[in-house]
Amino acid sequence: MPSRHMIGIQARIVRSRALACAPGLSATGLRQETQDDFWNRLSVLAGGLLLASQIQTVPQWGRDAQRPRFQQQNVHCEARDESAIRASGSSVITLEVEKDRPGLLKEATEKLETCQLNIVDARISTDGAEKAKHIYIVKCKVTGEGLPEDRLLEVSKALQALGVGLCKAEPWPVFSSEEVAKHKTKETGIWVSYKDGVYDITEFVANHPGGVDKIMLAAGKAIDPFWRIYQQHTGRGNAVTQLANMRIGDLADPVVTSGQSEDPYDADPDRHPGLIFHNNKPCNAELPSELMMDAWLTPNPVWFIRHHHPVPVIDQDKYRLIVDGVGTKSVTLSLEDLKGRFVKHEVTATLQCGGNRRSELDKIQKTGGIPWGFGAMSTARWGGVYLREVLQHCAGLSLEGVEAFGVKHIVFKGIDDMEASIPVEKALSPYGDVLVAYEMNGEPLPSEHGAPVRLVVPGVVGVRNVKWVGRIVASTEEAQGPWQRGLAYKGFSPMVKDLKDIDVEKILSMQELPVQSVIVTPKPGSTTELDDIEVKGFAWSGGGRGIIRVDVSCDNGETWVTAELGEGKDQTPTRAWAWTFWEASVPVPDHLRGKEVTLLCRAVDSAYSTQPERPEPLWNLRGLNCNCWHKVEVQHVDD
Ligand code: HEM
Repeated sequence: MPSRHMIGIQARIVRSRALACAPGLSATGLRQETQDDFWNRLSVLAGGLLLASQIQTVPQWGRDAQRPRFQQQNVHCEARDESAIRASGSSVITLEVEKDRPGLLKEATEKLETCQLNIVDARISTDGAEKAKHIYIVKCKVTGEGLPEDRLLEVSKALQALGVGLCKAEPWPVFSSEEVAKHKTKETGIWVSYKDGVYDITEFVANHPGGVDKIMLAAGKAIDPFWRIYQQHTGRGNAVTQLANMRIGDLADPVVTSGQSEDPYDADPDRHPGLIFHNNKPCNAELPSELMMDAWLTPNPVWFIRHHHPVPVIDQDKYRLIVDGVGTKSVTLSLEDLKGRFVKHEVTATLQCGGNRRSELDKIQKTGGIPWGFGAMSTARWGGVYLREVLQHCAGLSLEGVEAFGVKHIVFKGIDDMEASIPVEKALSPYGDVLVAYEMNGEPLPSEHGAPVRLVVPGVVGVRNVKWVGRIVASTEEAQGPWQRGLAYKGFSPMVKDLKDIDVEKILSMQELPVQSVIVTPKPGSTTELDDIEVKGFAWSGGGRGIIRVDVSCDNGETWVTAELGEGKDQTPTRAWAWTFWEASVPVPDHLRGKEVTLLCRAVDSAYSTQPERPEPLWNLRGLNCNCWHKVEVQHVDD
């Protein structure tokens, strides 16, 4: 039997109450260093096994019906046959504390130490009042395994002697993959395995940022092969931490992967080191502010990257684009067909990820997704053919056909398994300027950005601009998948923290984005001695709505200066697909000389829409559409 461990070695403890257990510390008002000191001390107490940096809040066990059974009323060890007990690589000790008290955590961990135990994992949860539940996953220091029945009893008695409540000690459950496979519906509970652990994900499924359909592919199975494709799960660690909280036992027969198998990301292109990388597999990288306004057209190598999968390797000579669906006659086009049989058009458009500026919302409360700054946004002059011409003149989709067949959406299917759609009105509008693009800033489209062919849907959230497109379908329904129908690009009220009672499919998926503006210089924290602060930035709005004004304040919104609009200002106000640069010279009022100055900007678009003041009312579970007034604090030095 292989020896099994928890994923990492973590102490996941509900902080506010757990702190009450710490000797000599009050439960409230602790500064971060104090908390860290506490956890460091605990780490020492627990033989260095608890890592302060990994402490998290944990939910209670998932579904009652499926959780491991801890049935005893008092000190009791479930009778199991000896072989089953030996099969368990660790044991679980549960201390039901009636009245929590400072120092109890220390006392309990010391007791476990004296029982010659290594604490592999510790979780403490509370009911917010006096009661607490300590769960320790332990191994015998000598054997490195779980404990036999007599030792379990001994440990229970030792903790029971603390006189704070009931203690139960039992083997940590071990499940075979056959047993896991029986749990793949809501009724049975939804289990998965990962490496050597078994997890009950029933409650989590509805809240999965990648959508219900995707996670359900792994129901009753090992998620390891899925996470090899979606390495963002392991890259940033969010998903691993969430998963650890759902662990219900060990896997008896984990799959052992032999040797080094090929990484699906091995063929990804080399990337510019100037980008700010959030993930590499798949790549998600933003344009640094220092490079943002060097040129109105962002150079291709530093264009922001938002991938969902590995970059597909495509032989351009063999590439074919299929165009079909309701009301069309199916056609298959090569790259040469696109270049030779249609008139080439150029459209200058800014693309913005729906999660741009998410990090500002994360400061209020963590959302789910990449913590972008404001650089998930770039501009290019795209070259290609109009989608409407491909659909109408080649695939024969007429406006009458659209009406007659009820075509509502044009779906784009990426060769990388990405799928998204836009409304048919946008696709066919003579003023919509949607491109099937094969050039970027005068160069052949780089593989990083969708070569040989991608969609460019000006004025619409980045995710609909599908890269490496292999098929375009006229449809009565919008695209399938998490990026269209799931929660990935849907907004919710700030009060919504859990989606289990919400029909996510019924919520409109994001298309056009709201008006946005950002201060690029000066940088936060910089100092200035000047009487007037030179402020520069960009503004943009979705739906082709041009920027008609940008206001800048240096006194936290008391007074405003109108910025001078620069490149981009001459775009047609109803077809302004690219950003507008702006600058303003803002006099520092006397009362702020020598003090911290708060710069703000807000843009107004051609619909006279403007940006909301504060981020708090914008907060949403996925951290989308953050477009509040952009704020930069600088220090004025009075000479
Ligand atoms: C079972 C436990 C799982 C957990 C705890 C989990 C957690 C997460 C988290 C936290 C994210 C957001 C990632 C981010 O920060 O950008 C995410 C995204 C995603 N997940 Fe999962 N996931 C699980 C299983 C799966 C499985 C089995 C699949 C595939 C079959 C999957 C597919 C995806 C996809 C496609 C995304 C969106 C990625 C993107 O938009 O780039 N997940 N998941």
